[in-house]
Amino acid sequence: MTATRSRALVFGGSGQVGAAVLARLLRAGWQVDALSRTAHAPRPGLRWLGGGFDAMPALASDYDAILSCGPLDRFAHWQSAAAVVAPRVVAFGSTSLAVKRGSADAGERGLAERLAASEQALFATARARGADAIVLRPTLVYGAGRDRTLSRIAAMARRRGLFVLPRGATGLRQPVHVDDLAATAIAALAAVGAGGTGYDLPGGETLAYRDMVARVLAVLEPPARLLEVPAPLFAALAAALRAAGRLEGFGAEAQARLRQDLVFDIAPAAAALGHAPRPFRPDATMFVPG
Ligand SMILES: NC(=O)c1ccc[n+]([C@@H]2O[C@H](COP(=O)([O-])OP(=O)(O)OC[C@H]3O[C@@H](n4cnc5c(N)ncnc54)[C@H](OP(=O)(O)O)[C@@H]3O)[C@@H](O)[C@H]2O)c1
Repeated sequence: MTATRSRALVFGGSGQVGAAVLARLLRAGWQVDALSRTAHAPRPGLRWLGGGFDAMPALASDYDAILSCGPLDRFAHWQSAAAVVAPRVVAFGSTSLAVKRGSADAGERGLAERLAASEQALFATARARGADAIVLRPTLVYGAGRDRTLSRIAAMARRRGLFVLPRGATGLRQPVHVDDLAATAIAALAAVGAGGTGYDLPGGETLAYRDMVARVLAVLEPPARLLEVPAPLFAALAAALRAAGRLEGFGAEAQARLRQDLVFDIAPAAAALGHAPRPFRPDATMFVPG
C-alpha cells in the first residue's frame, strides 16, 4: 500500500504552521519525512528525522514534494546545494518582505532583503531542475496558541486583566489562521501553472489593529479590558518595559506600524491556489498552546 503513496519531505513541521501542514498531509494520505532538531513521537505515515540545516540527516534522493515551514533563507540555501529533488516545492516566506523593505530599522530592512533574495534563489534552483516552486507569504498568523502577536497579547492580558494600546492603533490587519495556511499549502502542491511565484496569504477579514485586539480580549475567560492611552505615554511605558527586557521586538518601528495599514490582495492566491481563509472569529482556545 505504502509503495503507491505520495512522499513529502517537510522542514519546520514542529512549528505552528508546520504542525497544521503535517496534519493535513497525513489526512490526505501522504507518507511524510519531517525534520526536527528535537525528538518527536512518530505517527502513522510520519517519520521524524533528527537534524536541521546545521546537521542534515540522511535523506531520500527524491520526493513527490518538499515543503518548507521554517526559515526560508536556510531552506533556499540548502536547496541550492542539495542533491534531493522533487517536482513540487512549496515554501513559506513572509509579507515582511514588503512591510519591512522601507523600515528605518536596519535589522528589519535586512530581513526584507534576505526574504526577497531567498525567494529568488528558490525560484532559480527550481527552474534549473525543472521543478515548480511556490512561495506562500502569510500575514499575521494565529490559531495554534504559539504565535508571537495575538497569543502573546492574550497571555499578557490574562495576567493583568487588561491590555494597553496607544490611541490611534487603527492600522488595518488581516489575521490568518494556521489551518487556512495549511489548506492553501496542500492546494499549492496540486496547482497547475502557479509555480515560480510568491503569493501573499492574508486572512479572510480586514480589520483595525485595535478591533482585532479587542476581539481577542473579549473571548478570554474572564474577558480582559482594552485600555487605550495617549501615544507618548504608551511609548514611555514600552521603553521602560524594553529596558527591563520585557517587551522584546516592539521598538519605535513596530509601534509606528500600529497606525499603518498592512493590507495584501487576496485575489492572486484565491485564483491560483483557491486560498479561502475564514473571517477573524477567535475563541479562547486559539491563544493557548495546544
Ligand atoms: N508567525 C507568523 O506570524 C508568520 C508570519 C509570516 C510568515 N511566517 C513564516 O511561516 C513559516 C512558519 O512560521 P511559524 O511561525 O510556524 O514558525 P515556528 O513556529 O517558529 O517554527 C519554526 C520551525 O522551523 C524550524 N527551524 C527553525 N530553525 C531551524 C534550523 N536552523 N534548522 C532546521 N529547522 C529549523 C523549527 O524546527 P525544529 O525546532 O523542530 O528543528 C520549527 O519547526 C516561517 O517561514 C515563517 O517565517 C510566519
